[in-house]
Amino acid sequence: MTQGPAVLNFALVGCGRIAKRHSELLGLNQIKGARLAAVCDVDAEKAKAFGDKFRVPYYTNAEEMARREKGLDALSILTPSGLHAELVRALAPYKKHLVVEKPMALTLNDADDMIRLCSENGVKLFVIKQNRFNVPVMKLRQAVESGRFGKPVLGTVRVRWCRTQDYYDAADWRGTWALDGGVFANQASHHVDLLEWMMGEVESVFAKTATILVDIETEDTGVAVLKFRNGALGVIEATTATRPKDLEGSISILGERGTVEIGGFAVNQMKVWQFVDQKDEDREVLEKFSVNPPNVYGFGHQMYYEHVVDCIVNDKKALVDGFEGRKSLELISAIYESVETGKEVPLRFVPHKCRLGIR
Ligand SMILES: NC(=O)c1ccc[n+]([C@@H]2O[C@H](COP(=O)([O-])OP(=O)(O)OC[C@H]3O[C@@H](n4cnc5c(N)ncnc54)[C@H](O)[C@@H]3O)[C@@H](O)[C@H]2O)c1
Repeated sequence: MTQGPAVLNFALVGCGRIAKRHSELLGLNQIKGARLAAVCDVDAEKAKAFGDKFRVPYYTNAEEMARREKGLDALSILTPSGLHAELVRALAPYKKHLVVEKPMALTLNDADDMIRLCSENGVKLFVIKQNRFNVPVMKLRQAVESGRFGKPVLGTVRVRWCRTQDYYDAADWRGTWALDGGVFANQASHHVDLLEWMMGEVESVFAKTATILVDIETEDTGVAVLKFRNGALGVIEATTATRPKDLEGSISILGERGTVEIGGFAVNQMKVWQFVDQKDEDREVLEKFSVNPPNVYGFGHQMYYEHVVDCIVNDKKALVDGFEGRKSLELISAIYESVETGKEVPLRFVPHKCRLGIR
């Protein structure tokens, strides 16, 4: 085993909504082998509030932080999605490992740039898809890997969350094409990732979107129909227009030899676990592999950071590196391409009409 530094120093770039979760994990000793060493936000008040709370230096410029804080090992980029790429461009030369919130970027060109720059500078790129670490999701993945489903038939994800006008109005980037995208690019990007992780590569997609309950540029509701390369079909149903509160974040995988459904509001409860070839341990799966997280982010960020530390200290490959993060971005771009063209979009493809990330 390679011996790394005893405790890795992380700095946060962006002190907004999701930074609360990151800062509490890193700043309150919740992650073994990691600590919060500095924070930065272009909004000086936010930077100061986080800096004061966790007694770490704070900055209003990420490059200045990377330059001045000599002991940093990794930077977590928690800014509006459309700014992830330019921050990676600015920060990769400082040769700190980079953790980037989902979605990794809004255009495939940006994603490719990020992958290339991290590789050229010899740093790891981690894209946060914390739901992959949910207890029932990991159990499902094991069943997929061990071939328990037989021939794949149908994969479905459903996101029925509640985001009101107040949520969109709280930050001016939310619900914009340039910096966010709609429910597909933002909230459902986790579920799109999970569906591809379980079902494999997508061959084509046809999608429709609508903006129904809020006043934003992008969609609050969308549906997509998928064909996978292995012959199976898929459905993505996603909305932030569920009222009055979050209802569901779920995935169902159906194969010739079994069916699994994980529900709850954050893909956290094993609802169905049935296989043609039953094993003794199957009986306990429903109760053993369900958890109730306090919010829709789930418990996954903690597991995710533990994974990041393990990958850095022991020089392991990230579960969701840049290439893996790019896959769901490609499918999301294809969904938006289909919306604009009214046609089924084959993958691989080069976006022409997709508006996501266009300024
Ligand atoms: N993994 C998850 O479940 C999850 C949940 C929520 C948000 N996110 C992602 O996290 C990111 C941030 O979302 P949020 O809801 O926290 O947004 P937010 O608007 O609450 O916070 C973003 C912060 O970044 C700051 N910022 C902007 N440009 C900056 C720059 N150049 N340098 C430093 N700081 C800068 C802003 O001032 C703001 O404080 C998005 O990419 C979003 O998709 C992920």
